[in-house]
Amino acid sequence: MKPEPHILKGIISGIVPLPIKRFYWKNMRPKVFSGAFKNFSEIKDEHPWESEEWIELSRQKLQAIDNLSTEGKPLGGYLSLTAKLINKLSEKETVKVLDFAGGTGFVYFRIFPYLMAQSNVSWHVVDSAALIDIGRKHMTKSHRLSFSEVLPYAGDRFDIVFINTALQYMEDHRGLLKKLLSYHSKYFIFTRLLAGNIETHVTSEIIFKRKTPCRFLKIQDIISFFGNEGFDVLLSDHNREESLSWQYSKDIPSAMRIPYSMDIVFKRR
Ligand SMILES: C[S@@+](CC[C@H](N)C(=O)[O-])C[C@H]1O[C@@H](n2cnc3c(N)ncnc32)[C@H](O)[C@@H]1O
Repeated sequence: MKPEPHILKGIISGIVPLPIKRFYWKNMRPKVFSGAFKNFSEIKDEHPWESEEWIELSRQKLQAIDNLSTEGKPLGGYLSLTAKLINKLSEKETVKVLDFAGGTGFVYFRIFPYLMAQSNVSWHVVDSAALIDIGRKHMTKSHRLSFSEVLPYAGDRFDIVFINTALQYMEDHRGLLKKLLSYHSKYFIFTRLLAGNIETHVTSEIIFKRKTPCRFLKIQDIISFFGNEGFDVLLSDHNREESLSWQYSKDIPSAMRIPYSMDIVFKRR
């Protein structure tokens, strides 16, 4: 009987010495980001978010949350940052969050057990039909979650706009941010934002063998953008949960690489 590929992978991983594994990770693993471009139009978009693999992974990530035991286990990283801020704001009043490009609502489901005032937090996800359908099916009566494929109408108000690792896929990211500003939010939370002390550029990212354009941002440009709109940086840090260093192909100059993404929160003055 032929072993399952993931079992075979586990066996191989168990017998290969660590230095060889390290060499593989550093030098031979397929790179995620390649090329430095100016515009999205220079890269073919193969729509990875519509792929069966991505949709299945998204479904499995939600199922995995159900099997997680959260008792006594603190949240870490960007999830903790997000939950802490929302807990502070929802202590005495209701808080409405707009999660742009939020997929299945993964972040909401993940932080839900850690929300101190669950009924004070309502969360709206904007993403594609296939992903929000998975999220809808995962909801229970206690969740205060809604979904749409398009942005809510401009007169709506949200206390927080939240974007987790998605701004980089927006061709007109400044135009999108202008639209999101129309919700009069007090806070913008960006987690795993691809930004740093680099010049803004576009690169080609591979997700499940499909290419998509992806923009790395000069962080100072984003800070100035929000500064001009009346926001200050409330907190900002490197997100050390995932190293990006090994993910660049040789054709990306080192001055254009960031070792980590960023978590950054803007607060209206
Ligand atoms: C890396 S995933 C992040 C998903 C989600 N924020 C999370 O934390 O699980 C990028 C997401 O951007 C979404 N996306 C890409 N272009 C979009 C657009 N124009 N409008 C809304 N969502 C979009 C994709 O469908 C995908 O769910």
